[in-house]
Amino acid sequence: MEKYIADNTRYDNGMEYARCGRSGVLLPKVSLGFWHNFGGVDDYSRSRAITRYAFDHGITHFDLANNYGPPYGSAEETMGRLMDDDFRPYRDELFISTKAGYDMWPGPYGNWGSRKYLMASLDQSLKRMRIDYADLFYSHRYDPETPLEETLQALVDIVRAGKALYIGISRWPLEALRVAIKYLKEHDVPLLIYQGRLNMIDRAPIEEGIIDECEREGVGFISFSPLAQGLLTDRYLNGVPEDSRMSKGKFLKSDMLTPELLNRLRRLNNQAASRGETLAEMALAWILQHKAVTSVLIGASSTRQLEKNLKCLSAEPI
Ligand SMILES: NC(=O)c1ccc[n+]([C@@H]2O[C@H](COP(=O)([O-])OP(=O)(O)OC[C@H]3O[C@@H](n4cnc5c(N)ncnc54)[C@H](OP(=O)(O)O)[C@@H]3O)[C@@H](O)[C@H]2O)c1
Repeated sequence: MEKYIADNTRYDNGMEYARCGRSGVLLPKVSLGFWHNFGGVDDYSRSRAITRYAFDHGITHFDLANNYGPPYGSAEETMGRLMDDDFRPYRDELFISTKAGYDMWPGPYGNWGSRKYLMASLDQSLKRMRIDYADLFYSHRYDPETPLEETLQALVDIVRAGKALYIGISRWPLEALRVAIKYLKEHDVPLLIYQGRLNMIDRAPIEEGIIDECEREGVGFISFSPLAQGLLTDRYLNGVPEDSRMSKGKFLKSDMLTPELLNRLRRLNNQAASRGETLAEMALAWILQHKAVTSVLIGASSTRQLEKNLKCLSAEPI
């Protein structure tokens, strides 16, 4: 591939930036996740094209985790390769996040929320991504066995050590979120953001009060799997395409696509069509219209999908 020079118009292409809670950070309303399509098993030139397209269209936030791949760690290695090949000159224009909390390496120290795991994991992540610090480091999940204070103090110390600029948490229940907000505030490292699954068919963060708590406390909210892994697009309306996530059968299983859900998706698709939009555009716009939501964190297996999804920014309110 030819040498990358970022598009001069990247900040004039229609991307909007939203303030993340009550912080100094602005995030693009559409962010790009590396969970799928950026692993060692994936075609690097396609991952590279998607990332270039994203940055050229104002997507400054890339979201990773230690175990994204497969194999584990390889999405971060792809990020490292991308830094060397294309993005090093743009490091200060990028907001790169990673996480630890799920199964990563064997034995008792490669999972959950201990200080031992979080500290070692972030060191590994920085090496793989070939960067000196992460913009944002997350506890990837709530650990019911480790004292919350241990996890939270490790996060504070990570910021103090300069290894991450900001702290986020993902998938913590409401009560634990409240403890985190208080603890981190008291230790002068305010919680920047909560990452949770919110989309038209999974409204748990609203129902559980997470969104309200974030809004009240000035914490940003970023919605992962905003397209329900592709269900909220036209991908599965007429069967399961061969190259789709569902055809791989691991994270999106075909038994999820019940006749009831399919009917609901078809109705939503018709509603989108009557608005002159695709289902994906409408689904993303629906999330973004919630005041507390900072960004939608999408995945894409092609630049074409990204291109289509970015149209959500000009969709009408629902
Ligand atoms: N914190 C957590 O625990 C957690 C959990 C999950 C995800 N995440 C984060 O959220 C990010 C996004 O998750 P996700 O990939 O599940 O998001 P998503 O946006 O709901 O789904 C992305 C998938 O939908 C399909 N798709 C996207 N746009 C399409 C379009 N216009 N038309 C047809 N199909 C389309 C593609 O799948 P095909 O392969 O079928 O083309 C794509 O890979 C992850 O990368 C990760 O950073 C975090």
